[in-house]
Amino acid sequence: MGKDVIIACDFAGEREVFDFLGLFRDRKPFVKIGMELFYAAGPAIVREIKKRGHRIFLDLKLHDIPNTVRKTMAVLSGLDVDMTNLHAAGASAMMRGALEGLTRPDGSRPLLIAVTQLTSTDEETMRKELLIPTPIAETVLHYAKNAAQAGLDGVVCSPLEAEGVHRVCGSGFLTVTPGVRFADGERGDQKRVMTPAEARLVGSDYIVMGRPITGAADPVAAYHRACAEFIG
Ligand code: C5P
Repeated sequence: MGKDVIIACDFAGEREVFDFLGLFRDRKPFVKIGMELFYAAGPAIVREIKKRGHRIFLDLKLHDIPNTVRKTMAVLSGLDVDMTNLHAAGASAMMRGALEGLTRPDGSRPLLIAVTQLTSTDEETMRKELLIPTPIAETVLHYAKNAAQAGLDGVVCSPLEAEGVHRVCGSGFLTVTPGVRFADGERGDQKRVMTPAEARLVGSDYIVMGRPITGAADPVAAYHRACAEFIG
C-alpha cells in the first residue's frame, strides 16, 4: 500500500477508454472506473482493463441492505479489482457485510473505502432536506470513524479533510482524495482543490485525478507530472 495517482476514467464507452489507456506504454496507471462506464460496458471492461496490467478502483458506491451488499461485494471481489467502495451512510452492519462478501476464500480482498458525505451535499441540504443538523465536517469525521471501526481501509474525502481523518482514525487509515488540480490548470466544477504536491504534504494516500489528465493535450506527460509532484 503506497502513495499513488489514480486516473478517473470517466469515459462514455469502451472505445474511448481503450484509446486513452493505449497511450500509456511503460507505466500502467491505477485507474478508477465509475458507474457510467461500468453500467455502459459491464464487468467485461473491468476484466479487460485488468488484463492490460492496470490496477482498478471500482467506484460503484454501494448502499443497500447488508445482505444485498454482502452478496454484491462477493461478485465484485471475483472481478479481481484492487479497491472498491460504498456509502458509510449505509451504517456499520452494511459495512461489515461488505467486508465479509469481499473477502476471498484465501483471506485476500480488495481495499474497501467509504464515501462519507458527497461533496455535492451542502449543509443547507443536510439541514432542510435530510434533517441532519450536524456540521458537515463533523459528520465526515464521524462517518470515517464508523468506517474504521467496521474494519474498512479508508475513506474518499477532500484533501482538505485528509489530516483530520488521519488524526481521528490513525495514519494507517487511507485517504483517497479527488478534487486535485495542477497549480496552472483549470478547476472545472471542483471548488475546493489542492495541487498534487499540496495533497502530498497533507498526507493524502491516493489522489484521484480525472480531467487534468484525461483532457490534457499530452495525458501521459500530465500523469507523469502528477506522479512526480505527489509521489516524488
Ligand atoms: O475530473 P476530476 O479530476 O474532477 O475527477 C474527479 C473524480 O473523482 C470524478 O470521477 C468524480 O466523480 C470523483 N469524485 C469527486 N468528488 C467526490 C467524490 C468523487 O470529484 N467527492
